[in-house]
Amino acid sequence: MGKSALVRPLVIISFVICISLLHYLTPLHLPYLHDIFQRLYYLPIILAALWYGFRGGLLCSIVVSVSYAPHLLFQWGGHLTMEMEKYLEILLYNVVGSVTGLLSQRECERTVELQKTALGLEESFRKLQCQSERIIVIEEQLRRAEKLSMLGEMAAVLAHEIRNPLGSIRGTAEILKDDYSPGDPKYEFIEIQIKETERLNRVVEDFLRMARTQPADMLPCLVQEELETIVTLLANDARERKIKLVLQPPCVPIIIEANGEKLRQAFLNIIINALQAMPSGGNVLITTTVFQAELCEIQFRDTGPGIPSGTLGRIFEPFFTTKPDGTGLGLAITRKIIESHGGTMLVKSEVERGTTVTVRLPIQLQLTEETFEGEDTRY
Ligand SMILES: Nc1ncnc2c1ncn2[C@@H]1O[C@H](COP(=O)(O)OP(=O)(O)OP(=O)(O)O)[C@@H](O)[C@H]1O
Ligand SMILES: [Mg+2]
Repeated sequence: MGKSALVRPLVIISFVICISLLHYLTPLHLPYLHDIFQRLYYLPIILAALWYGFRGGLLCSIVVSVSYAPHLLFQWGGHLTMEMEKYLEILLYNVVGSVTGLLSQRECERTVELQKTALGLEESFRKLQCQSERIIVIEEQLRRAEKLSMLGEMAAVLAHEIRNPLGSIRGTAEILKDDYSPGDPKYEFIEIQIKETERLNRVVEDFLRMARTQPADMLPCLVQEELETIVTLLANDARERKIKLVLQPPCVPIIIEANGEKLRQAFLNIIINALQAMPSGGNVLITTTVFQAELCEIQFRDTGPGIPSGTLGRIFEPFFTTKPDGTGLGLAITRKIIESHGGTMLVKSEVERGTTVTVRLPIQLQLTEETFEGEDTRY
């Protein structure tokens, strides 16, 4: 119970008792004081009406009338004609109590109505804000999709034009290489030529893979299993770079609907980026958790040099790279794969502290086997 719920009735009752006592104890030869006390009764009546509405005002005026009546009848004699003014005052107590109560009750009701309307408006405003934020995000996605589809068309043409001559260049270089022995400067040049041709070929392949809209081959996949495959594949690389690669299992096995091959490619790109960014002695930690009951959240946390804020906004752009031999397509492809699985991808980074890539994918099924192995896998 609130403090005011107790204090208010006490204040009203005290007022009525005090004023009544003043009436009963003040001698009758001081009528001007009685006149003042008579008016003082309005104070508790109006307070009751303001605090408790119509019923409160009326009840208080009745209590006041009942307390005042014996004083009028027995001390003043109670002659109707002589004490008419006092009888009228009693009537007025009741009129003032009920009318003030009624008015204050209406005012309260109106305030409640207004508060409700304000709350409703606030809620609508919040919804509107959420919707406009979503529209901005969708617009951005559409713009990106448009850019990528244009790139896709260009890639098809480019691939056609570049791939075949590349094959011939590489073939002829291989033939020429046979004419020189290792150690010969020309042999080295031809090696470089072959290597660069291979790199160019890789760019074309990557570009094509990104552009091609392959038919979805979605099957239930255990997230942990897909991650394990990639981590095992990269374990050697990590060991050579003296980087600790740790894969933490989720508390419960999580199944998502995915194209396993594409998903593995996405994970591979993210982990390779982390390994490439890191000096020896660094750590890469991969965790899987359940986010908001229906999403699986996979985080790839590295202790690398981080990404400067000026660069962070560009890392998903096709061909953006800071590496001498990078194609700059890794993250663009990865994001496309994640989004084609109905997921989202977020990169947070702090310079000199590391980078965290967060991938969220819709969960298809969450198993609750107690036998699920819960140990970290360290490589
Ligand atoms: N974990 C990371 N730490 C630091 N920088 C990163 C990390 N991941 C990505 N980057 C930055 O984002 C850029 C773009 O990455 P992306 O994978 O798209 O291309 P890339 O790695 O340069 O080339 P590739 O096509 O061979 O993957 C990288 O060049 C690098 O500067
Ligand atoms: Mg990369």
